[in-house]
Amino acid sequence: MDKLAIIGGRPLYGVIPISGAKNSALKVMAASLLSDQELTLENVPRLADVDMLLRLLNQHGVASVFENSTLRLRAKDIASTEAPYDLVRKMRASFNVLGPLLAREGKAKVSLPGGCAIGARPVDLHLKALGAMGADIELDEGYVFAAAPDGLKGADISFPFVSVGATEHVMLAAVLAEGRTVISNAAREPEIADLAVCLNAMGAGIAGAGTSTITIDGVKSLSGATHRVLPDRIETGAYAMAVGATGGELTLKGADGSLLGAGLSVLEETGLLVEPVDGGLKVKKQVDRCRAVDIVTQPFPGVATDLQAQFMALLATADGVSRIKETIFENRFMHAPELARMGAQISVDGQTATVRGVPRLKGAPVMATDLRASMSLVIAALAAEGQSMVNRVYHLDRGFERLEDKLADCGALIERVKD
Ligand code: EPZ
Repeated sequence: MDKLAIIGGRPLYGVIPISGAKNSALKVMAASLLSDQELTLENVPRLADVDMLLRLLNQHGVASVFENSTLRLRAKDIASTEAPYDLVRKMRASFNVLGPLLAREGKAKVSLPGGCAIGARPVDLHLKALGAMGADIELDEGYVFAAAPDGLKGADISFPFVSVGATEHVMLAAVLAEGRTVISNAAREPEIADLAVCLNAMGAGIAGAGTSTITIDGVKSLSGATHRVLPDRIETGAYAMAVGATGGELTLKGADGSLLGAGLSVLEETGLLVEPVDGGLKVKKQVDRCRAVDIVTQPFPGVATDLQAQFMALLATADGVSRIKETIFENRFMHAPELARMGAQISVDGQTATVRGVPRLKGAPVMATDLRASMSLVIAALAAEGQSMVNRVYHLDRGFERLEDKLADCGALIERVKD
């Protein structure tokens, strides 16, 4: 398994291009199943997760051409309505093919995604919503068997709590349902609005995406379209925090600060200047040592849970005591003991971590069990004294495009060590 060798202590200067958002690309890719025409997606990041979903779409009959960052997808005919365990268990976002297959073909057999390192992550809201839209759903041998031979019907769906994936799943199914679907307590993440822009370009009737009530008027068929995936807000936040941890000044090309929600003001509170410039964002460290802050993760526009681990790395060397409360996932502090191996002073009590900033971290061999946690270790290693070895780089390859090249271009001493 590849590792990253990082020698810390060098400030970052230069330009980092921000890639298209992984968590948007994966959903708009699933939209290709809804039409027999070509869907052209621009600004698609080259990531292991994107490749994995592509493999699944290919076996459903989607023809694909991926050149540079443009992905052309065409599902002229659906070859199979079954999504096998091997392709779904590795990546939860694959589960979202269920709705489109059901909407287009009237049936689907999709493996349950199972738990993952950050928590149990059930799909009960997804299944209940599809059931409310008229699908017959049965669970057997780890698979969801869903059928709607007469098509899906619009329904009023009120989520008891906010779920990004379930909101997107209902949107992907309701666009071809008969009649109107209204989602209440919908997720408001920027990726939801991006999915709506893509589906509407294909001819769907979605209004209100980005607010907590989304209305979808079903149509009989969808056409092809061209859609540009929005910039990755988590990658943006992570590189901004790398500047906070190491010092220096970066231009994040293509980034949009408004996509960070409350995360933007937290970055500023720590002592970073984050300023829109032509074609992106400028990030500069304005203080010698970042200031401690308290953070509570929340659905958008709150601070993203996907930035929590990176904030912990930044705050590990901040001046003062920070408290971080994780409210979205029950087990998302696995990076804390790894950061402690580098000298961070962190105590975890249930869903709250208390971080007492130390002046300097020390390089160490570390590893993480998920993508964002791995990025937090990279940030810590960039700031630490001496060499760190970040193991299990495959996590980073799932979600950060050309990570070591982007950082090395800005002065970081970072190298991939092949095993
Ligand atoms: C998406 O996951 C993202 N993944 C996650 O990013 C992100 O952390 C999360 O949204 C929250 O922002 C993708 O977009 C591919 P949820 P998702 O449904 O949709 C519970 C990353 O690192 N829940 O909003 O799976 C669930 O367990 C990943 O890129 C149910 O109980 O998240 C969680 O506690 C990690 N039943 C909460 O809701 C359900 O049916 C919110 O999850 C669905 C969810």
